[in-house]
Amino acid sequence: MDGAADRQQASNGQRAAGGALGPRGKGLFGRLLKGLRTPQAPREEATSIAIASGKGGTGKSFLATSLAVALHRSERRTVLVDCDFGLACDHLLLGVKPTVTLQQLLAGQCTLEQVLVKSPCGPRLLPGASGVRRMATPTDKDLTTFARELGVLAGNEDTLLLDLGAGIAPATVLTMLSADWVVLVTQPEIAALVDAYAVIKCVAQLKSDAKFLIVVNRVGTPGRGEMAFQRLAEVATQNVGVELRYLGEVPDDDSVMQHRLGQLPLIATEPESPTSQAVQGLAERLIQICGGLRQRTVKGDEGIQARFRQHRLFL
Ligand SMILES: Nc1ncnc2c1ncn2[C@@H]1O[C@H](COP(=O)(O)OP(=O)(O)O)[C@@H](O)[C@H]1O
Ligand SMILES: [Mg+2]
Repeated sequence: MDGAADRQQASNGQRAAGGALGPRGKGLFGRLLKGLRTPQAPREEATSIAIASGKGGTGKSFLATSLAVALHRSERRTVLVDCDFGLACDHLLLGVKPTVTLQQLLAGQCTLEQVLVKSPCGPRLLPGASGVRRMATPTDKDLTTFARELGVLAGNEDTLLLDLGAGIAPATVLTMLSADWVVLVTQPEIAALVDAYAVIKCVAQLKSDAKFLIVVNRVGTPGRGEMAFQRLAEVATQNVGVELRYLGEVPDDDSVMQHRLGQLPLIATEPESPTSQAVQGLAERLIQICGGLRQRTVKGDEGIQARFRQHRLFL
């Protein structure tokens, strides 16, 4: 997807998202709903992290699969959920061959336990469907089921990594709104930065306290990632009043590309390489910034399933 297409989609998305109520109406309606809901018991739940980008091909799946391996090695119970609806590929990057995917789970044809697959490097994967047009635009019922399954999954894990498709399709924005954190993956070039800003703007209009962590991938010269981040952070603070945090940069490295199907991620095959060390550093900062990435207590109506349900009303 190119920048112009993303930008067009961004403005469409904002129109749809602003919807009938707009952000102010959303606040009022949200408070009203909260008042009507009966309080539910607190529960233990995983921290959820959406891995997103504006432009396609910035390295989300590379990063999501690598972080899943790194977090598993840091003894966090980790599940990677491939939320690139219709164009999933995390199973290839983790060297697994799933027999059922999110498609069968949402259709009620298999259980969560049947669809979760343990990868050779350790973390478990909830694989997505690839080349299935119906999955590219999940229905309302699909999203309700997806939210329920995410809720069940969150109850059993420390960390959920949600690898998203690029851009601001409604299901993608909904997942970003419902996650605890959004790791936005960009590159040190103008089209990727402009599209990253479009995502920030779109999400922040619907959730003013959204928490963004920025990764600059494919950096040619060390330090360029932080320079790119500073520019993005300045624009985001000035125009949408959102504070971004810098997670770090990853070098541009040919060895990231997996040449054979079933090949394992670089972080597993060459853990000492500068790129693997950079990803390891990102995982450590993620643990630090996101409160340890262990299960924590949430109020019953503030878990991921409840947030999904709440935000779905406004998309
Ligand atoms: N740091 C990097 N250095 C070199 N190539 C990279 C790097 N990160 C990702 N790539 C390559 O870029 C392409 C897109 O990466 P991918 O993770 O599939 O992006 P996305 O999930 O955002 O679409 C892949 O061919 C991948 O191998
Ligand atoms: Mg991807």
